[in-house]
Amino acid sequence: MKFFVDTADVAAIAELNDLGMVDGVTTNPSIIAKSGRDILEVTKEICDLVDGPVSAEVVSLDADGMIAEGRKLAKIADNITVKVPLTWDGLKACKVLSSEGTMVNVTLCFSANQALLAAKAGATFISPFIGRLDDINLDGLELIEDIRTIYDNYGFETQILAASIRNANHMSECAKIGADVCTAPPNVIKAMANHVLTDNGLAAFMKDIEKANIKIV
Ligand code: E4P
Repeated sequence: MKFFVDTADVAAIAELNDLGMVDGVTTNPSIIAKSGRDILEVTKEICDLVDGPVSAEVVSLDADGMIAEGRKLAKIADNITVKVPLTWDGLKACKVLSSEGTMVNVTLCFSANQALLAAKAGATFISPFIGRLDDINLDGLELIEDIRTIYDNYGFETQILAASIRNANHMSECAKIGADVCTAPPNVIKAMANHVLTDNGLAAFMKDIEKANIKIV
């Protein structure tokens, strides 16, 4: 499973990238607004830092506007993925941009039918939002399973990019289901390293290290 980082925090991306944990990056208008940076400038900086796909989202609602913005974003770097919303206009923009050879990430996916349409429109990635479904008492992981089944039934090549990941459990569950990619904030990726038994075990070792004055010199 590929790891994308869901942030525009360049320092956080660089730290994870140095560890080989970054296969790509996703942003959205809320993430860009939080960064306080110009979208074109920060996206270029991220594209220069990371080898894999970097998603940058359009801001228009109509297909023509999305296509024009998508073409502009695609000029930033070869690894740009244009992110469009899962609306009828977004699907039209997806079809045009993907036919031109641009990677497209169709976002704000909340149903298997929406994922089916995105695959038909040639999406490189479909972004089902797990956390936002969980927030309204629906099962986000069940959606990932349903999309995996449908895409496998028909051999669709669109990659399932599980998004709106809120905790480390989402990561391992997505890996078990077979999501192609998970995009998660840096703190969630770091939380994957945590285990209470690791902490307890280390504390016990430290006591014995002190007691026996163990040194490696
Ligand atoms: C990434 O592509 C999505 O925009 C992001 O994961 C949404 O996450 P949120 O639901 O926590 O805002």
